Amino acid sequence: MRLRTILAASIPVLALAAGIAIAQTRTPARISVWDGVYTDAQAERGHTLYMQNCSRCHGADLSGTYEIPPLVGRFMPYWSGSTLDALFDYVSTAMPLDRPGALGAGANADIVAFLLKANGFPAGAKEFGTTSEAQKTISFDAVRPMQKKKSAKAR
Ligand code: HEC
Repeated sequence: MRLRTILAASIPVLALAAGIAIAQTRTPARISVWDGVYTDAQAERGHTLYMQNCSRCHGADLSGTYEIPPLVGRFMPYWSGSTLDALFDYVSTAMPLDRPGALGAGANADIVAFLLKANGFPAGAKEFGTTSEAQKTISFDAVRPMQKKKSAKAR
């Protein structure tokens, strides 16, 4: 009788724990802009392209003007919560404002790498790629995500 009560009470807890375990194994490893998703050499190329195609409006220091948004500072919270394909697609299709889509995919990836560097995100060993599947796995977090807890306990 007592035991049955205990068992019955445990079922939802066990089901919840199993659910969490499944969810964890199914979620692909999430990477963010803090994990080194571009290289220094790429950002350097991006800097040159930025000076040629973007600085005229957004400024050499990316601070923008009254009408033109900055690409540093409030740029961070504005894009935070998205994945990098959103920024890449925006830059690729809407910019430069006077001739949208004029730059190729490689050039736009280099420019995004430069924007990441300018916003203080660390460089890594692998270049930022041009495929949206890969870009979708990289989250744009304005604040460095907390280290994941080792075990998820059912509350
Ligand atoms: C002719 C001026 C001009 C040029 C050149 C230009 N931009 Fe822009 N950019 C703008 C304006 C104006 C906006 C705001 C557009 C809007 O709000 O619809 C903007 C918006 C943006 C945004 C969105 C910013 C935000 O947080 O809202 C990004 C990113 C951006 N530009 C990147 C670039 C890049 C990269 C280049 C060079 C490849 C570039 N721009 C060239 C004028 C320009």
